[in-house]
Amino acid sequence: MTSWEGALVTGGAGFIGSHLSERLLAEGHRVTILDDLSVGRRENVPAGAELVIGDVCDPDVVGPLVARADVVFHLAAHVSIRASMSGFAHDARVNLMGTVNLLDACARAQRTRKFILASSMGVYADSPTPDPIGETHPTQPIAPYGVGKLASEQYAALVARATGMQATMLRYFNTYGPRQTYTPYVGVVTIFVRRLLGGQPPVVLGDGEQCRDFVHVDDIVQANLLALDENDPQPQIYNVGSGRGTTINELARMLCDRLAPGTRPEFADPHPGELRYSVADISRARSRLGYAPKRALSRDLDGVVEWCRVQASSRP
Ligand SMILES: NC(=O)c1ccc[n+]([C@@H]2O[C@H](COP(=O)([O-])OP(=O)(O)OC[C@H]3O[C@@H](n4cnc5c(N)ncnc54)[C@H](O)[C@@H]3O)[C@@H](O)[C@H]2O)c1
Repeated sequence: MTSWEGALVTGGAGFIGSHLSERLLAEGHRVTILDDLSVGRRENVPAGAELVIGDVCDPDVVGPLVARADVVFHLAAHVSIRASMSGFAHDARVNLMGTVNLLDACARAQRTRKFILASSMGVYADSPTPDPIGETHPTQPIAPYGVGKLASEQYAALVARATGMQATMLRYFNTYGPRQTYTPYVGVVTIFVRRLLGGQPPVVLGDGEQCRDFVHVDDIVQANLLALDENDPQPQIYNVGSGRGTTINELARMLCDRLAPGTRPEFADPHPGELRYSVADISRARSRLGYAPKRALSRDLDGVVEWCRVQASSRP
């Protein structure tokens, strides 16, 4: 593994960023986390990481951190496709301008060798079938969140080419796992588990036949570490998913069977801005990075259930 002196993880007090930070520390990297704790939590920050509480959009905060970071993992974002429909100005301010601000700091400091962006399946146009889509699938986001992620990718590629920094864009698909930040709008696995643990049926939006690629957070971390080791002067883009599609009805069934046999989901109107089919073709990440997902939804839901149980029992 290449030796990296300092890693800056933005959004490292959140769900994915905290798992990534933990793993980086275990691999012997020095980790600084920048998070404004708007959603992330102090208790998610692993021992050994330095936490800087601040806004990724603030040049005075970001500048000094980037000046001592060999690698930047940029995960800080306002993570809600649905909320981005009405709150697109806020989405763009945090998600796009946060990225631009970080890149500007990288260009000024000339220290960072690698920039790894948490992008999203939200950059893609909706797919007419549940077949896996590759990185060449048309990028035509149907929600502002995807527009911000796509523009972030493009800025990162441009700045990387202009400055000689390496850049990798990882397009995460629907990530699940313990510690997923709970909001009523993000993370359908956690939302369904919490409802079932509270004695309520899951609410499926639309007909439930929309298909998603659920990827475990450990596999997302794996992809980030592999991207760290890739040594390509050209900016690269990779899908990071499981490569398998699961409908929301199938997910609801799996969870009802586990947690409340006999329960049937309720149905509600679909929300605008949601993709119908979103399944990753991961062959590019497999062949170029050596990425191989190790987790499977059917096996690894238990970890989420357990985590949600503990959370529920510790709530006042
Ligand atoms: N969870 C998924 O399914 C998924 C899918 C695709 C892409 N992603 C991307 O992965 C990244 C991490 O997502 P997550 O699921 O861990 O979400 P999360 O909300 O748990 O983590 C995001 C973190 O960013 C922090 N943050 C928000 N605004 C900030 C700001 N202005 N300055 C500093 N910190 C700020 C939050 O406090 C939070 O800790 C995001 O960029 C997200 O867009 C997530």
